[in-house]
Amino acid sequence: MNKDFWQKLKKRGRPILALAPMAGFTDSAFRQIAKKYGADVLYSEMVSAAALYYQDLSGRKKARRPKKNATWELLRFNRSREKYYVVQLFGSDPEHFASSARLITEKIRPDGLDINFGCPVPKIIKQGAGSGLMKDLARSRAVIEAVLANTDLPVSIKIRAKAGAVDALKFLKNISDLPVSAVMIHGRTLNQGFAGAPSWAIVKKARAYFSGIILANGGVNDLAGARAALMLSGADGLGLARGVLGRPWLFKEIKKERVYNLRPAQIFKIALSHAALAQKLKGKAGIIELRKHLVWYAQGLTGAAKLREQLVKAGSLKDIQDIFNKGIKNILN
Ligand SMILES: Cc1cc2nc3c(=O)[nH]c(=O)nc-3n(C[C@H](O)[C@H](O)[C@H](O)COP(=O)(O)O)c2cc1C
Repeated sequence: MNKDFWQKLKKRGRPILALAPMAGFTDSAFRQIAKKYGADVLYSEMVSAAALYYQDLSGRKKARRPKKNATWELLRFNRSREKYYVVQLFGSDPEHFASSARLITEKIRPDGLDINFGCPVPKIIKQGAGSGLMKDLARSRAVIEAVLANTDLPVSIKIRAKAGAVDALKFLKNISDLPVSAVMIHGRTLNQGFAGAPSWAIVKKARAYFSGIILANGGVNDLAGARAALMLSGADGLGLARGVLGRPWLFKEIKKERVYNLRPAQIFKIALSHAALAQKLKGKAGIIELRKHLVWYAQGLTGAAKLREQLVKAGSLKDIQDIFNKGIKNILN
């Protein structure tokens, strides 16, 4: 059993590279692509603890096989191609977390469970979830305890440098006696949202308050940025988010310490393999959902604006192939 895969990864003696959770992006298809290009840990999209809780209550007698619904669909994964897979929960009620931790551990059995303390979306904060939960130290602790008490899987957390009056250090101090395996620290404050420089200094200081694995996250978009983040934060690894959208090979660049200047044809090939996987797993809906990924793949290429315009209308694998073939011709001409 991989009771603590985090420590196993640390023992390898090189930075742990994680695909950070991204709602609407880190589905099974993208996780498999990220794994193929070097990610060590793959986070799910965030999943509502409340949704799982109410499903648990309503279907308790039949809960042996969870009903097919949107929340369960989000959790689907391929065990052999998505190692190590971590399911991230968001919510605010410890009871919801207890119930969903139990359910996911029994029915899905990922490699780990994670709790979201970083989401800045106003609707989520208003529910006391995400960054809203981080602001409330007592409730945050109760949530972590509830998850720990209802799973034998390693439990990790994802926090921000600061939310309200609570900074990462205060937060970690408050739970320093709990057996949390890993923390991913988004080095930006809640006020910063998704822009601005992350603070690697606070990630570095976190070491004094937390004995598990520390991953630094925020604004790492290339090899140079990865090196700087690792050096300045002293973290055990990195959580990569927007930096790997349309560029999953960044994992490999960091791992191999070299930059691959991929040609457009190579990028299209990767995007097509991603598209084929999305179609296989979700059918036509998979292609529609993939459009936003395709836009990222096209970024930075000659004629990107035109490519983007066409890609957001792609309805099939064949459409994508045709658009890319035409794109290549335009780039070569
Ligand atoms: C589209 C999008 C969706 C995200 N969804 C989640 C999520 O579900 N859970 C979470 O903890 N963070 C989520 N994040 C935050 C990222 O995991 C990461 O912390 C943030 O983007 C900063 O890293 P970056 O600057 O490398 O993108 C999301 C970010 C983006 C851009």
